[in-house]
Amino acid sequence: MVLPSLLLCDFGHLAREVTHLEEAGAAALHLDVMDGRFVPQLTYGLVVVEAVRRSASVPLEAHLMIEDADRSLADYARAGADIITVHAEALTDPRRTLESIAALGPKAHLAFNPGTPVEQIVPFLDCCDGVLVMSVEPGYGGQSFKPEVLAKLETLVHLRAQHRWRYRICIDGGISADTIGPAAAAGAELIVAGSAVIRSKNYSHAISTLEQIASEAA
Ligand code: DX5
Ligand code: ZN
Repeated sequence: MVLPSLLLCDFGHLAREVTHLEEAGAAALHLDVMDGRFVPQLTYGLVVVEAVRRSASVPLEAHLMIEDADRSLADYARAGADIITVHAEALTDPRRTLESIAALGPKAHLAFNPGTPVEQIVPFLDCCDGVLVMSVEPGYGGQSFKPEVLAKLETLVHLRAQHRWRYRICIDGGISADTIGPAAAAGAELIVAGSAVIRSKNYSHAISTLEQIASEAA
């Protein structure tokens, strides 16, 4: 499943962008919340998530690239996030955070950066609804895919089978027609695509092409 990221969309016409993406077949939307501290860029927060919620009928993922996410979990759940994704590197107690998200209702996803080894998140995998492998350094859209993260996807597939865990395997960053095949073949199930969709002239064609390549490779 391809989740378009709104990061590079036309925020002057947000509702129109959301409608176009839904009409183009987006099964869910990925919202990049950045605080200018955990990552250099500052994007948007609750107000925009709420606005997207009002225009969208598909599920929303709030990808929180922020420090002190624990303080805002209830707010993002209330704003209408169906998935709340938090970063292992930004949390003092990932288990507690993931359990708090689940108790609020949304799916609890744990993201980790290219430089963070899988071993660091293994202790929390039993309480993840999803694991998001970052395939670029978080912070900006339009960067190049880091192929060295493919091995992490394979490890996550293996660990899930071994322990009978239930998380979905997700990937975010640098996804294109060239990189989505290898990502899906290595185990990615929920695939975030920013520039590959938003910078294309035809959202519908971009999404269906990516989904087709992914399903053939999986
Ligand atoms: C990067 C964000 C991504 C970004 C992906 O920090 O988490 O979701 O929008 O954009 P592309 O697909 O262009 O790398
Ligand atoms: Zn993201």
